[in-house]
Amino acid sequence: MAETLFHCDDVLWRRFEMICRERDETPGAVLRDLVRLEVQRCERRKARSAEGIDERLLVRLRLLVAEALAVSESWGDLQRALEERALKFTPAGGGLVLTDLATGETLAKSSQVGPPYMALVRRFGTGFPGHPQPGIAAQALARPCPLAPARRTGFPVRPDRRPPMTQTLALNDTRSIPQLGFGLWQVPAATTAETTATALKLGYRLVDGAAIYGNEEGQGEGIRRSGLPREQVFVTTKVWNSEQGFDRTLHAAEASLKRLGLAHVDLLLIHWPCPRKDLYLDSWRALIRLREEGRATSIGVSNFQEPQLTRIIGETGITPVLNQVEINPRLQQPALRAFHAKHGIVTQSWTPLGQGKSFDAAPVQAAARRAGKSPAQVILRWHIQLGASVIPRSTREAGLKENLDLFDFALTEAEMAAIATLDEGQRCGPDPARFEMD
Ligand SMILES: NC(=O)c1ccc[n+]([C@@H]2O[C@H](COP(=O)([O-])OP(=O)(O)OC[C@H]3O[C@@H](n4cnc5c(N)ncnc54)[C@H](OP(=O)(O)O)[C@@H]3O)[C@@H](O)[C@H]2O)c1
Repeated sequence: MAETLFHCDDVLWRRFEMICRERDETPGAVLRDLVRLEVQRCERRKARSAEGIDERLLVRLRLLVAEALAVSESWGDLQRALEERALKFTPAGGGLVLTDLATGETLAKSSQVGPPYMALVRRFGTGFPGHPQPGIAAQALARPCPLAPARRTGFPVRPDRRPPMTQTLALNDTRSIPQLGFGLWQVPAATTAETTATALKLGYRLVDGAAIYGNEEGQGEGIRRSGLPREQVFVTTKVWNSEQGFDRTLHAAEASLKRLGLAHVDLLLIHWPCPRKDLYLDSWRALIRLREEGRATSIGVSNFQEPQLTRIIGETGITPVLNQVEINPRLQQPALRAFHAKHGIVTQSWTPLGQGKSFDAAPVQAAARRAGKSPAQVILRWHIQLGASVIPRSTREAGLKENLDLFDFALTEAEMAAIATLDEGQRCGPDPARFEMD
C-alpha cells in the first residue's frame, strides 16, 4: 500500500494538473472530482476483484489527502488538515512519509522529486519546512506552476471563477455536499418560502431543514419558487425524536417528503440520538432502507457522539456521510472532529455563529480588522478552513449575502491558531448525551 499510493498519485496529479489547465473550475473541485471517480471505479471493481477491500482503503486514504489539500494554502494548513484526519506528513530520507497518527503506521512515501511533492512546492511557494535538500525545492519553484501562473502562494491559487457556494465536500458514498448552506431553524413558517427562494437566488445551494422546524412546506415551496432545477439544490431534512424506531422513521420520512413536495431529499438525518430511548440503531436501519429506496440520496446523523457513531457503524457496516453538530469558537469539539475525519464523516456545524458570543473576542476582532471582514464572516471562514460544512441562518437578505461572502479572503495560520484558543467547551444548545425531548 505504501508504494502504491504515491505511484497512483503521480497519475492523479498529472491528470489533475492537465484538467486544471483545461477546465474553468477550482483546483479543489477538480481534485475532488478525480478522486470521486476513482472511488466509483474502485466500487465497481470491488465486485470482481479479490483485492477490493484494500483498494477501497487506498482510495479512502487518497480522498482524505485530497480533502486536506483542497482546504490548504500552505504546508502548515496541510499539516493541520491532515491531523484533523488523523494523518501526518514528515520529511524522511529523500521525501515525505504519510503516517497514521492513531497507529503510527507508515501509509505512504513520496519521492522528493516525484510530481506530488514538486507540485506542492510550486503551489505553496516553498519547500517542506526543514526539508533536507532545499535545492529540490528551488528546482521545483523554477518551473511554472500550472495552477498559479501569476503568483505561487495560496490554494486555490487562481481566483475562483465559479460561484464559491458550489465549493463542495466529498461524502463517503461518492456524492458531495456544498460546503456552505443556510439553515431554517426558527425561520417563521409564513416567510420560509420567501427566505428560501431569496437565499437560492443569492447563490446558496444547500438548504438545511427539519420536520421539527415546522416549515418544510415553505422549504419545498421556496425551492420551486427559485426556479432552479431540482438537481441544483441540496435539500436536507431530519427525523424528529418522537419518530424514532424503524417503522416510525419510515413514516416520518414519507411525511417530510410530502410536506416538502419532493420525491427525495439529498440528505436525511436522525436529529438527535436520544440515547435513553435507545431507538437510534433501528432508526438508522430505516434510513438505510430509505436510501435503498431512493427516498434519500445520502444518509447521516446529527448530534451523535462517538459511542453512538461506533455502534451504528459496527452494527450495520454503513457509516453516516455526515454528523451535524454544534460547533462554534466556544465549542470546537476537536476530538469528535478527529473521529469524523478518521471515519470519513463530514462535520457539519450548527449554530456556527455561537449566538454572537465570540464576535468581540480579540482574535476574531483582529482577524476581522486585518481582512476587512465582519466578525461573523471571520467565524464562518474559520469553519470553512476547518474543512467543515457550515449552515448559518439569517432571515435578513443582507445577512444572507454577508454570510456568502467568504471566499475572497483566508485566515492565516496564526489567526486560525488564535481562534483555536477560544474553545471553552461551552454549549449554546442542549447536551446530546441527555437531550431526549419529544
Ligand atoms: N441539528 C441540530 O440539532 C441543530 C440545532 C440548531 C441549529 N441547527 C441548524 O443550524 C442552523 C444555524 O444555526 P442557528 O440558526 O442556531 O444559528 P446561527 O446561524 O449560528 O445564528 C443565527 C443568528 O445569528 C444572526 N446572524 C446571522 N448572520 C449574521 C451576521 N452575518 N452578522 C450578525 N448576526 C448574524 C441571525 O440573526 P438575523 O436573522 O437577524 O440575521 C440569528 O439570530 C439552523 O438554522 C439549523 O438549520 C441544527
